[in-house]
Amino acid sequence: MHMSAHSAKGITREKRTASSSAAKDTTLAIDIGGTGIKAILLDAKGAPASERQRALTPNRATPAAVLKLLDAMKSKLGNFDRVSVGFPGVVKKGVTLTAHNLHPKWVGFEFEKVLIRRWKKPVRVANDAAVQGFGAIHAKGVELVITLGTGLGSSLFIDGTLVPGLELAHHPWRKNKTYEDDLGKKGFEKHGRKKWNKLVEHAIPQLEALFNYDHLYIGGGNAAQIQFQLPPHVTRVSNEDGLLGGAALWRRPMSEHR
Ligand code: BGC
Repeated sequence: MHMSAHSAKGITREKRTASSSAAKDTTLAIDIGGTGIKAILLDAKGAPASERQRALTPNRATPAAVLKLLDAMKSKLGNFDRVSVGFPGVVKKGVTLTAHNLHPKWVGFEFEKVLIRRWKKPVRVANDAAVQGFGAIHAKGVELVITLGTGLGSSLFIDGTLVPGLELAHHPWRKNKTYEDDLGKKGFEKHGRKKWNKLVEHAIPQLEALFNYDHLYIGGGNAAQIQFQLPPHVTRVSNEDGLLGGAALWRRPMSEHR
């Protein structure tokens, strides 16, 4: 936006520029999970601009099957200018490198390139917990985000800048079990709510000792199952942030290693 004229004419022009650019900045935000896939349109400020679409992740969640479903979900929403995708695995330069809870065909898939070609729109793909983090953090100090869903998501930020690539999910933490084994959906089902709560309560100080975060945010579908009192610098955040963070993926300066 240009800050030139102080005259009424200049202000009018500036206003017009602002509103026309706002009209151009509708983001189609997509959150791909191991269980469900969600999509919504967000306005330039990141507020919802459509109903939320939700579909079950295909059983055989290959890139082809997921792309087909995304086409169908997109066709139910209005026009958009750009796309943000949260993906449940490691993403580097738009390529999906791991996909623990989807089909192995995602490994090495050029997801961003393929979607750009398919939909002819600018696309940014990032790890789902990173997108969730963008929706949740306050961009102050060291902020850690974990998501308790089908998988266990994690993302780390310093003053609002993502430190890409943090993967706590498959890291062993006790009795040769990984964080995801115990705290993800399968862990929840195996241990039951009470024991799962004990394990989450035990993981929090471990993560604090490792990261010395200023704040920890806990999101994901199962965050609602937490029954113990969280310390003051640990907060539960809405699972909706997984979609709402999609606008921030375009607003914030972003390393291509996101
Ligand atoms: C993946 C992470 C992902 C998390 C939540 C894990 O299995 O390795 O990359 O963020 O699930 O979907």
